[in-house]
Formats: sequence, structure tokens, C-alpha cells
Amino acid sequence: MELIRQAAAMAAWSGERLKEGRRLALVPTMGCLHPGHAALMARAAQLAELVVVSVFVNPMQFGPQEDFDRYPRALEQDCALASTGGAAALFAPEAGELYPPGFKTKVVVGGVSEGLCGASRPGHFEGVATVVVKLFNLVRPTVAVFGEKDFQQLTVIRALTRDLNFGIEIVGHPIVREADGLAMSSRNRYLSPPERRSALCLSRALREARQMVAAGLKDCQDILTRLEAQLVADPLVVIDYLAVVSGHDLAPQSRVGRDSVLLLAVRVGQTRLIDNGYLIRED
Ligand code: PAJ
Repeated sequence: MELIRQAAAMAAWSGERLKEGRRLALVPTMGCLHPGHAALMARAAQLAELVVVSVFVNPMQFGPQEDFDRYPRALEQDCALASTGGAAALFAPEAGELYPPGFKTKVVVGGVSEGLCGASRPGHFEGVATVVVKLFNLVRPTVAVFGEKDFQQLTVIRALTRDLNFGIEIVGHPIVREADGLAMSSRNRYLSPPERRSALCLSRALREARQMVAAGLKDCQDILTRLEAQLVADPLVVIDYLAVVSGHDLAPQSRVGRDSVLLLAVRVGQTRLIDNGYLIRED
């Protein structure tokens, strides 16, 4: 596996592979890779001959009060994991490579990036959209794999790919969870043992919402009120938002249908955690 640190070197590497007629799959990450990321790489390897993993803690998507400085960085381990996972190249630029002095452009995706995490984290999706567009242009993949863990992010990426005519196939991969149900995340390492126990409230809420729906409850407000009552009972948990939306366009719903997704964002202590899932499962 090749470790690439420069934007120009990444573009050149991809250019050569494309000239050889190879197809590239891109897995963008912020590193500190875990089995959730590994699942995305394995999926990418099924979709194209060569997998490129990017590792970049993108300053543009963090707010001034957020965890950019303390976000975990583990490039050596990431290289080992990406290499074992079959990546052909790992692109890990410094911030100045992607945002040199004078950088002034922002990609703004209207609509789907505005509510939910977009409301709690102003500027976040502009940062995500901008860096993903840069990665698409440098790597020029045929396909890019993103996790459903960040459901709104996946929706934003689908929108920008369509709106800007990238012609890249966007593949969403299901959430990979710990044995007890907690969605894997690089931020889980911030949790103290009591917070780690409280963090199970997310997957529990999702499970209980599905049970309510299976038992015949279809009114979204009723479901959300019940979930909220359970979540506020834990003193370590502060709700950011709970919503039932359409999985297609994130529009809020009043009745549960086949496309209904429950989106959850809470703070457990200082750590912001998200989770989501369809309320009616096909399996
Ligand atoms: P990061 O949080 O590192 O996640 C990289 C990719 O892994 C995202 O597509 C995310 O949805 C996916 N992922 C994370 N945890 C997962 C899990 N438990 N199961 C399945 N997929 C999971 O998301 C970002 O980085 C950044 O915003 C990025 C897209 C790289 C732009 O900077």
C-alpha cells in the first residue's frame, strides 16, 4: 500500500491508474480507523479494483467549540489497518495541503444539510461537502463508500454528487455496532465507563421505537414523546434532537411509513453521539 501525503501526488497516482484503465473506489475517513471503517473498505473492494482510503481530520467541518484539537489521530495504526484491509493507497494530507493560504471556496448544499446536525453544528456540512468535493477531484473514483451511521452526511453527499454531476456512484453501508449495540465511532473513546453505559440509550431507543411500530404505534410524535421521556431520565444524557424523517430527503414525518428513519443525537457528558435506523426493517 502506498502512503500519499501530497495532493499533487494523489492526483498523479490516480491519473496513472485511470490511464491503465483501472477503477478506483474511495473511502473518505478522519482516521483512527475502527471496524466500521474496515467494513466500508471491504465493501469498496467489492466495488472496484483499487481502494483509496483517505485519512484527514478536516478542520473546516469542526466548530470553534468542537473537538478538532483532541480528535484522536493514529496514522501508523491507520496505515496498518488500511493495508490489511486491502487498500492500494492511503491519502493522508496535512491541513495545509488541502487548505493552502488563500483558500476561499465553500461548497454549500441547500435543503438536506440545513436541519438536524446542520442546525446544531453550523458550517459542519459545508466543511464536509467542501472536503469531499476536493477528495473526489483528486482521487477521481468510480464509486465512493460512506456509512449510514452519518445518515444526514450520506444524504448531503448524494445531493452534491447529483447536483454537481460527479458521475460517482455513492454507496451507503449499514452501521457497524459493538456487541452491546453502541454504534462504533472514533468518539466512543472519549466516554468514561459510566458514560459508556449511558451511551447505550441510543441503540436502546432505536430498538424500542421499532418495537412500538411493530406493536402498531404509527404516530411519530407519540413515539418521540415516549423516547424523550426515557432519554431524559438519565442524568448523563442531554438530547440534541430526535426526529422521524423520510430516508429519501430527510423531510419530517407525522406517520411512520416504510421509508421512516429515526435520527438521534445526544450529548453524553461532553461527547456528542449520533445513531439512526429505519423503523420498519425488511429483515
Ligand atoms: P469519519 O467519522 O471518520 O467516518 C468515515 C466514514 O465511516 C463515514 O462515511 C462514516 O459514516 C463511516 N462510519 C463511521 N462509523 C461507522 C460505523 N459504526 N458503521 C458504519 N460506518 C461508519 O464521516 C467522516 O469521517 C467525515 O465527515 C468525512 C466524510 C471523512 C469528511 O471529512
